[in-house]
Amino acid sequence: MDTVSKELMWIEIINGPNLARLGLREPAIYGRETMEDCLERLHTAYDERLRLTYFQSHHEGSLIERLYELQDQHVSGIVLNAGAYTHTSLALADALRATELPAIEVHLSQVYQREPIRQSSLIAPACRGVITGLGMDVYRLGIEALIPLLSPRA
Ligand code: DQA
Repeated sequence: MDTVSKELMWIEIINGPNLARLGLREPAIYGRETMEDCLERLHTAYDERLRLTYFQSHHEGSLIERLYELQDQHVSGIVLNAGAYTHTSLALADALRATELPAIEVHLSQVYQREPIRQSSLIAPACRGVITGLGMDVYRLGIEALIPLLSPRA
């Protein structure tokens, strides 16, 4: 049964640039928990219910390529923290639209309390929803937001 249910839903968490060393990077803003610890918690919570994978890249093109790979592999949905590309990458927004992947945009920091440039997102219009400012819990909340939106893979 476990294998069957894992086939039903596949969510990938994607982190963009400068999100490889969470825990060390500006901890006053992004907290002290590492992504590895966060993923361990998420696997413990969700492994029985869905397939959960993780991808991180500092490169815009690699993030875009990953979206097309995931589309080809029929991922169910993604939780995306595009980092600074959120505010600058029309190309990433276009790829989200092109792949039509259900996506939740997440940010650890409360971007609406930060510099004006961080308060605009080019990718949000291509996402189903946005979760911001709740620290590492945004990844879990992103998964919780996606689950009801996803239909089982064909
Ligand atoms: C971030 C917010 C972005 O503005 C910033 O460039 C990041 C992290 C966040 O998770 O709060 O790299 O996406």
